[in-house]
Amino acid sequence: MKAIVIGSGGREHAIAWKLSQSQLIDKIYCAPGNGGTALENKCENIKIYDFKKLLNFSKDNKIDFVVVGPEAPLVDGITDIFKANGIKIFGPSKQAAALEGSKAFAKDFMKKYGVKTAAYEVFHEPLSALNYLKSCSYPIVIKADGLAAGKGVSICQSPKEAADCIESFMVDDIFKGAGRRIIIEEFLEGVEASILAVTDGTTIIPLLSAKDHKTIYENNEGPNTGGMGAVTPNPFCTKEVLESFRTEIMEPTLKGIGKEDMDYVGVIFFGIMITKKGVYLLEYNVRMGDPETQAVLPLMESDFAELIINALDKNLCNYNLRWKNKYSCCVVAASGGYPNKYKIGFEVNGISNDGDKVFIAGARLEGDKLLTSGGRVLAVTSLDESLEKARIRAYNGIDKISFSDSYYRKDIGL
Ligand code: AMP
Ligand code: GLY
Repeated sequence: MKAIVIGSGGREHAIAWKLSQSQLIDKIYCAPGNGGTALENKCENIKIYDFKKLLNFSKDNKIDFVVVGPEAPLVDGITDIFKANGIKIFGPSKQAAALEGSKAFAKDFMKKYGVKTAAYEVFHEPLSALNYLKSCSYPIVIKADGLAAGKGVSICQSPKEAADCIESFMVDDIFKGAGRRIIIEEFLEGVEASILAVTDGTTIIPLLSAKDHKTIYENNEGPNTGGMGAVTPNPFCTKEVLESFRTEIMEPTLKGIGKEDMDYVGVIFFGIMITKKGVYLLEYNVRMGDPETQAVLPLMESDFAELIINALDKNLCNYNLRWKNKYSCCVVAASGGYPNKYKIGFEVNGISNDGDKVFIAGARLEGDKLLTSGGRVLAVTSLDESLEKARIRAYNGIDKISFSDSYYRKDIGL
C-alpha cells in the first residue's frame, strides 16, 4: 500500500516512522516532511502544499490512504475534497473539525451532549463581555474562539487583566479574526492529561494517556509552547480517572458525533483536567498531539497502518489494539529563544537511534547535514520498564545530541 502523511513536524515523523514498520506499507510520501522523514525507511518527501496538487498526486500515484497531521488542513476541509474524489483520508470532515476550529462550537456541542466541561458563556461583542466580568469570581479563563496557534487562552487573575484581555482579543484583534468571538470560562484547578482516541464514527478506541509539558521552563514556568516533552502513560490517569473520562467525556462525545451526523474517521484528542470535583474536558483537538504522538506511538504493539485501515473501513468494533507493557519518555530539544525569536541554520550532530528513537521536527536535510529550521528541533523518545528508567535513558540520549543554542527542559516526567 502507498500512503501520504501531511505535515512537517515531529508528530508527522512519528506517524511516518510507525507506518513504515507495517508489512502492509510499501511507500510513504511525506508532504512536505522534514529532515527526519527524508531519511526514514520507505519514506520520500514531496514538496506539495496545495490541496488540489496533492489530490492530483494521490490519483496519479494510486495512493491508498492519506493521514493528516495538523489541524489547519482539516479545518479548511481537506477531508471533504479528498473523499469527494474517492481518496481515503484519515481525518474528520470540515464540519467535525470545527470541534477544534471553533471553541464556541465545541463548548456548545459539549453542553448539548452532556460532556463534562467548565461552565462558560460565549460573547460576540466586547461591551457585553466587559459587563459580564462584574459577575465573575477570579481567576477566570478567556479563550479566543478560532485557531490562534496555541496562544488564544488567557488565565486572568483580576477584572482589570480580564478587561485588557478582552480589549486585545476583540478590539485590537491580535488573532486576526480568531478572537472576535470569545468564551469566558470557569477556572479549573488540577492536573492535565492528553488522551488521543481513534474513531470510525461509531466505535472509539482510546490510546494510552499522555502528559504534555507545555511551558518553556521547568516547574511550569514561562510562556506556553507547543509542548516540550511528554510521558506515557500519564501517571495521574488512574483507573478511576479513566473510567470517569470514558463515561462522562468520551462516550457522550461519540454519541454527539452520531446524533449530529458528523463524518468523523480519525483521531480525537481530548485535553482533560483532573480536578477534585472530577474529570473535565478542556478542549477537543481533531488530530494527534505533538509531542504526545512521539511518546504514545512507540508503545503501540499493534500495526498502526492496520488500525488506520480498520477505521477507514468502519470496522473498529472488531479491532483489538495492543500495547507494549512499558513506559515512555519524550524530551524535546528546541532552538534557544523559542517560543519567541530564535536563530536557525545550525548543524545538528550526535544523532543515533541506539535503543532510543530521535524524531526530527524543525530540522531539514541539506546534503548529508541536518540543519535546524524551526522552534522545536527534535525529540528523543525512550522506552523502559519504569518511567524513571525511561527518563534517564531519554536524557542520556538527548545529552549526546548537539546544536548551537540548544535548549531542553530538565524535568520532563518528574
Ligand atoms: P485549551 O486550548 O482550551 O486546551 O487551553 C489551553 C490551556 O489553557 C490548557 O492546556 C490549560 O492549561 C489552560 N486552560 C484552558 N481552560 C482552562 C480552564 N477552564 N481552567 C484552567 N486552565 C485552563
Ligand atoms: N501538545 C499539545 C497539542 O498537540 O495540542
